[in-house]
Amino acid sequence: MLTKNLSRLVLLLAAAGTCTMAAGQQRTAPPPGPGLKLINERCAFCHTTAQVLRVRKTPEAWRTTVRLMVDRGAELSPSEEKVMINYLNTHFGVRKGKQR
Ligand code: HEC
Repeated sequence: MLTKNLSRLVLLLAAAGTCTMAAGQQRTAPPPGPGLKLINERCAFCHTTAQVLRVRKTPEAWRTTVRLMVDRGAELSPSEEKVMINYLNTHFGVRKGKQR
């Protein structure tokens, strides 16, 4: 009886471990895409890419942030700006009303 319960616990722990590993991997490797390349090239000389991707924003808030950073000196053409905002909304967005 006890061994049966124990092995179930071990299985559970193993499964939990796998989940944590997957989450950790996501944190170190953001989803690839042209938007990520742009962030690495144009946004990462004042702060790291990780700092940009740590926050979650609504589409309006991302647009405001990216424009603010362009004002501060990030070099982005209007079409690059669109690509980046799209990428941020797809992978690092929040739905309206859910912003922290
Ligand atoms: C000229 C320097 C500079 C460049 C280039 C720059 N940033 Fe920033 N960024 C800052 C500074 C300074 C802060 C911290 C002050 C603040 O929070 O407004 C910041 C903070 C941030 C934050 C966290 C604060 C928030 O509003 O959530 C995000 C996200 C961000 N930047 C995104 C970007 C993106 C995207 C780009 C590329 C388009 C970019 N930054 C390029 C200077 C820069």
